[in-house]
Amino acid sequence: MTRLFAIGATGYVGGSVLSDILKVYPDFEVTALVRTQEKADLLKTASNGRILTILGDLDDLDLIENATKNADIIINAASNSHLPSLQSIKKALASKKTSTLFIHTSGAGVLADSVDPAHYNPSKEYSDVKDIDEINSLPDTQPHRPADKLVQTIQDSNPDYVKTAIVSPPTIFGIGYGFDNKISAQIPYLVKSVVKVGHNFTVYEGNTAWSHVHIEDVAALYILIVQKFVAKESFPSGYKGYYFVADGTPHLWKDVAMAVTELLVARKLISDPRIDKLSPEEVEKQFGLPALFWGSNVKTIPDLGKSIGWKPTKSSDSEFWASIDAEVDFMQKHGILHRTLSSH
Ligand SMILES: NC(=O)c1ccc[n+]([C@@H]2O[C@H](COP(=O)([O-])OP(=O)(O)OC[C@H]3O[C@@H](n4cnc5c(N)ncnc54)[C@H](OP(=O)(O)O)[C@@H]3O)[C@@H](O)[C@H]2O)c1
Repeated sequence: MTRLFAIGATGYVGGSVLSDILKVYPDFEVTALVRTQEKADLLKTASNGRILTILGDLDDLDLIENATKNADIIINAASNSHLPSLQSIKKALASKKTSTLFIHTSGAGVLADSVDPAHYNPSKEYSDVKDIDEINSLPDTQPHRPADKLVQTIQDSNPDYVKTAIVSPPTIFGIGYGFDNKISAQIPYLVKSVVKVGHNFTVYEGNTAWSHVHIEDVAALYILIVQKFVAKESFPSGYKGYYFVADGTPHLWKDVAMAVTELLVARKLISDPRIDKLSPEEVEKQFGLPALFWGSNVKTIPDLGKSIGWKPTKSSDSEFWASIDAEVDFMQKHGILHRTLSSH
């Protein structure tokens, strides 16, 4: 029986991936690290007892090391910056004597050019095949980069038995279908902050763009990599195993701001249609958001996944723009946007 250890199973990405894993591999023994007994009970119930749990967090390093030693497949979708837990995974994998796969979730924010318009590089697109050497040479100051670097050393520590892959999504959209959190990050965080503050913003003119991908297409890549591993087929791994996932045309953040404002006004969640053009410092101060994720350029070309058969089916531009309303609707219905005009 294949044993899978999941970190981040209650999350948007991890939950959606695991949900697909349970469908495709009914015989896998799945164990998840969870932070509370409440989450353990939730996972048990939501998965009909299929998911076993270990109570702990990313700082329980011995626990992570042992769980990794006892697994054939490890999926990390909890943090792309927590180095101590990745060191524990590396330590455990270095001594494995059976074939093991580690899939780490990073983020295409690693490519972010700048929040300073003087240093924008809007024409730059990164292919995970053609530009892999450049991607692997990004400085440590880029988001997620120290964790990516650490993960990329793991396969070399035990090349006969260990394969690693990094999945690096840009903006993920769509309602998740895991066990607990079902909403993504960038657009939901933006929506929540705008509802709280009462109006919207762009970082400067908002003339920066990110690639996007639907959560189902993200999960499909994890499944594909797992399938290759289980079937003992070769697939790019280690330093060459850095997978982008994206489709369609990168969205401009000023267009997202306009779409969000229109929707929130129509739903009477805000009354003020203004969109302030703010500096990164003002964004952080007024909206409590790190401006880089709404005010830089990140454009990815997923050549590597396509080379092993990944085909996005839900990530078109029309799906992306339609999903903003669906995400706001979901957040409103689930009490995530509890502030309405009457409470302003
Ligand atoms: N969503 C996106 O658009 C996107 C795009 C690119 C990259 N990513 C990256 O993908 C990863 C997952 O993102 P997500 O959107 O799925 O986030 P999420 O929904 O917040 O899920 C995070 C998961 O990690 C768990 N977790 C967080 N901190 C932990 C800790 N200290 N110890 C143990 N478990 C911990 C959470 O557990 P609890 O349930 O206890 O909170 C949850 O299961 C992140 O690294 C994120 O940066 C996300």
